[in-house]
Amino acid sequence: MTSIAIVGAGPQLGLAIARTFGSQGYDIALISRNRTKLDDLVGTLTAEGITAAAFPADVLDRDALTQALKDAAAQFGGIDVLEYSPSAGLGTSAVTTPAGTEPAHVQHEIEFHLYGAIAATKAVLPAMREAGTGTLLFTTSAGSVNPQPSTAHISTAMAALRNWTINLHKELADTGIQAAHIGLDATIGTPTFYGQPRATADQLSLLYWDLHITNRDQAERIFRG
Ligand SMILES: NC(=O)c1ccc[n+]([C@@H]2O[C@H](COP(=O)([O-])OP(=O)(O)OC[C@H]3O[C@@H](n4cnc5c(N)ncnc54)[C@H](OP(=O)(O)O)[C@@H]3O)[C@@H](O)[C@H]2O)c1
Repeated sequence: MTSIAIVGAGPQLGLAIARTFGSQGYDIALISRNRTKLDDLVGTLTAEGITAAAFPADVLDRDALTQALKDAAAQFGGIDVLEYSPSAGLGTSAVTTPAGTEPAHVQHEIEFHLYGAIAATKAVLPAMREAGTGTLLFTTSAGSVNPQPSTAHISTAMAALRNWTINLHKELADTGIQAAHIGLDATIGTPTFYGQPRATADQLSLLYWDLHITNRDQAERIFRG
């Protein structure tokens, strides 16, 4: 039996990745904060013949996140794929330019993007090492590669996650474990301004499947809409 844990499972990318892997026979562990919304996603997937279960946790609570992943592993007999893509829009701290950024603004985003990803990885990597296989996929937006002054606080943290992931890919070479960064330079769904590049969540979810199944030697994929 194979399974994927989606950390930051929501109605757009999270659901699309769940469908892509679920349609290939993977069991789906959905992790985000709101139990009711997770149960709705589980209901949707179940109606489509996909086995899914909800494990509510906040990525800012690293103990709870670790426990959720352990519970998911216990229920599904292990976690073969970890996908990390929580999204809180522009974040809960103030939106800042580089010059206007206070350490606290970046601290929050680092907790959200980088430390959550590290905690999730530590929860699943030992079993993957033991098995000699596994996949770790981490999502950011365009700012991780091409930072924009208008959202400096988020770009800074996403760039840190990108850096750490590519380094993890190097460290895990020849272990059978794939680690990769996916940078999405597109709005998912309806763009908020004219001319903004866009993509569908279904289209993007195929990148994750490709990095898991086919291009396991690639450390990064940047999607430009
Ligand atoms: N949407 C876009 O246009 C866009 C563009 C470029 C890149 N991206 C990236 O794509 C990924 C997915 O974005 P999406 O918009 O499609 O989101 P989504 O998969 O539809 O949902 C993401 C989920 O993250 C959960 N979340 C928020 N804060 C959390 C926390 N503290 N702990 C745990 N879960 C949390 C939310 O659920 P709860 O509120 O229930 O926790 C939300 O439903 C993200 O990495 C994002 O940065 C998105």
